[in-house]
Amino acid sequence: MNTDIQRNNLISEGDRESFYRVVFSRRDVRGQFLPDPVDEKVLARILQAAHHAPSVGFMQPWDFIIIESEKIRRQIHNVFNQAHNEAAEMFEEERKETYKSLKLEGIMDAPVNICITCDRRRTGPVVIGRTHIREMDIYSSVCAIQNFWLAARAEGLGVGWVSIFHEDALKNILDLPEHIVPVGYLCLGHVKYFYDRPELELVGWQNRMPLEELVYFDKWGNQEEPEGSSLKKELKNAEKCFIER
Ligand SMILES: Cc1cc2nc3c(=O)[nH]c(=O)nc-3n(C[C@H](O)[C@H](O)[C@H](O)COP(=O)(O)O)c2cc1C
Repeated sequence: MNTDIQRNNLISEGDRESFYRVVFSRRDVRGQFLPDPVDEKVLARILQAAHHAPSVGFMQPWDFIIIESEKIRRQIHNVFNQAHNEAAEMFEEERKETYKSLKLEGIMDAPVNICITCDRRRTGPVVIGRTHIREMDIYSSVCAIQNFWLAARAEGLGVGWVSIFHEDALKNILDLPEHIVPVGYLCLGHVKYFYDRPELELVGWQNRMPLEELVYFDKWGNQEEPEGSSLKKELKNAEKCFIER
């Protein structure tokens, strides 16, 4: 018998339910972090989940920089503030004030910050699947980030992704070599609570789009369902299931 194949490829109904509960209850956390330390056993499990993400040509281009130093976090917070002030000026007048009122990071509040990177040279210059679209390595690191985010939620921990930086400023503070890209800067910690819906939706900034308007058939923009398909109806049903969950 081949011992390298999964003996049971069925996921139990309970496991499936739990998976969707994690997916739908994951939130981006900014203002609800508690100072309580994160257990290293838990952090290790979350990092293993990230490390088991798919990657182009099994390149595994990620590294994980765990940042607990208050000094480093302060430096990162300073460069966030600079970019955040610049960002405010980019929005139209009426949105500017709302933007300024949003809390968009938990750098100093979360006990652990983690930068997930992409090593653009990992495993050499020619990688299966990356021969024509070079960004596939970056997308792979993003997959690791999503695994990290979901695993943290499964552990009851919150994650907030902070992206309002000049990339060079972040690279300087973290001593990243030229070929290492900081793909995700994440804040991790216990939380007071998770919101039920995205905060940007709660404050009226942006609503979730209707999924059935984002699904096309055969060609870009074609929303006409092929004969016999009831996918659009099912998409609505699936949304109801999620809301009732
Ligand atoms: C690539 C990426 C960058 C993000 N950057 C920020 C950020 O700088 N600050 C922030 O508050 N949220 C950031 N977010 C979180 C999004 O605002 C959030 O995912 C979205 O509003 C939906 O909310 P939810 O994650 O709670 O479902 C980022 C998310 C992604 C995927």
